[in-house]
Order: sequence, then structure tokens, then C-alpha cells
Amino acid sequence: MTETIFSKDILKDKVAFITGGGTGITGGVARAFAEHGANLAITSRKEENLSAMKKAVEAFGGECFTVSADVRDYAAVENAIAKTVEHYGKIDIVVNGAAGNFLCSADQLSANGFGTVVDIDTKGTFNVCRAAFEELKKSKGQILNISATLHYLATPMQIHVSAAKAGVDAITRNLSVEWGRYGIRVNGIAPGPIEDTEGMKRLLPEQFKEMIVKKIPLRRFGRIADIENAALFLTSDAASYVNGVTLVVDGGQWLLGTSLA
Ligand code: COA
Repeated sequence: MTETIFSKDILKDKVAFITGGGTGITGGVARAFAEHGANLAITSRKEENLSAMKKAVEAFGGECFTVSADVRDYAAVENAIAKTVEHYGKIDIVVNGAAGNFLCSADQLSANGFGTVVDIDTKGTFNVCRAAFEELKKSKGQILNISATLHYLATPMQIHVSAAKAGVDAITRNLSVEWGRYGIRVNGIAPGPIEDTEGMKRLLPEQFKEMIVKKIPLRRFGRIADIENAALFLTSDAASYVNGVTLVVDGGQWLLGTSLA
């Protein structure tokens, strides 16, 4: 449950289409949107992630439509968007959270390994934005892209993800400029190290946690709720003049250049 900071009807009657919405940070954002009145459409490659989130959302009386799709496959994305519109009649908010990640040094990474992550994160984000454009134009909707801070400096073992997320940030800026005229806002969130996520478990070995946390200005790791609250702010009318921004939610971590890898 998200801490009660925002009014519970802040996203009432909005339809949110969320990729990677079954688990992790984006799963938290999906659940928080539903808790604040949004009707969800979530997609993931894995059916089991979708059914678990659907059950959790319906348990508190929320609406959760599920459709599996691989964001790398434009036809599958188009189909997921069409099914969502068939189900709810519109889309107001798109959240691009689907991502791929693993640690690998540049000299060990294959071309396909690099390309796979860029395809999921960068091309996947473009695919979903592009396929949702006509619907967002109708609803004067908005896009929220989940990015990272890895590429602000340089993060060893993460050349593929750094390049992919730099591309996502470029998409956020470009679309905010190109689609602003239609009333579509495009923003992003760059989370820092967030506890209790699959990413953190795999990317930050337990023995380094204590050392890293001392180098975060706020002296704690982020919580999924920190990202949920930023997402609620950016997608709500409170941010109606915020466009083209990637909001860093990392306790100030990247400014100290604390590499997590
Ligand atoms: N280290 C090095 N290379 C890796 C790798 C790793 N840990 N994991 C995948 N790759 C490479 C593969 O070797 C392959 O390249 P190759 O054909 O040259 O050998 C390429 O990436 C594609 O891998 P594959 O497993 O076929 O792709 P996929 O589409 O099934 O899955 C990921 C790709 C990135 C999604 C997969 O690594 C994964 O499932 N990760 C966990 C889920 C995840 O990342 N969630 C996001 C949390 S932040």
C-alpha cells in the first residue's frame, strides 16, 4: 500500500497502460495507480507476472486488464494497445517500465546481448509510445518512461543498459517537444538503487550494500514507494505544466558518483 500522501481519487477514471507492470518498481507504480483510482492495463512477456498483479489489484477492488506482449514486437504492442482500447475505450497514461538487465563487462558482452537490452528498453519504449500515439492524442494523455542514472557518469558492467537508458531519456525529450502540441506530456523517472527489487538483488551483491549506503547522501536505499509517489505526482494534474523532464529519485546518489557495479 502506498503511503497516503495524495488524494485517493487523484487518477480517478484514468486508464493506464503499463509495460512491465507485473513486477518490481513498475509493478509498484501500477498498483499505486490503481489505489489512486486508475483502471489498469498491464503487459509483460510473462503471463504469471500478469495474473499475480491482476489478483492483487482486484483484491482491493481495482480494475486490472492484462495482455501479454513483448515490447520488442511492434505488432504485439499494437495488438495490446488495441485490446486495451476495446476493453476500456481509451488510454490516458502510458508507462514504459519493461526493461532487461544483467551485469556484464563490455569485453565479454556479445553484440546480441547489447542489442537485446537496447531492443527491450529503447526500441520497446519507442514502440509503445508510437503505437499509443493516436489514443494519447485523443485523450490529451501522457507518457512516463522509467529510466536510470547509470549513463549520467559511467557504470562499469552496464554499457548495454547505460546506452539503452540514454536512448530512453532522448525519447522522453524528443516526444515531449514533438507531441506537446497535442497536449501530450512526456516525462520520465530515473530511480536510484531501490531496495527489495529483482534488479537490486542481481546487480548489487549483499556484501557491498553497507558500503554503498554510506555513499548515498540520504543514507538509505530507495523504496518502491518513493518511485510510486514520484509517478503519481508526474501523472497527476499537479504536474500539468511539467513536460520533458526525467525526475531523478535516488537520494542524491548519482551526484557522488557511487558506482553500484
Ligand atoms: N551476461 C551476458 N550476456 C547475457 C546475459 C548475461 N547475464 N543474459 C543474456 N545475455 C545475452 C545472451 O547471451 C544473448 O546473446 P548471445 O546470443 O550472443 O549469446 C543475448 O543476451 C540475448 O539473451 P536471451 O536470454 O536469448 O534473451 P531474452 O530476450 O530471452 O532475455 C533479458 C534477455 C535481458 C531480458 C534476460 O537477460 C533476462 O531475462 N533478464 C532478467 C529479467 C530482467 O532483466 N528484468 C529487469 C530487471 S531490472
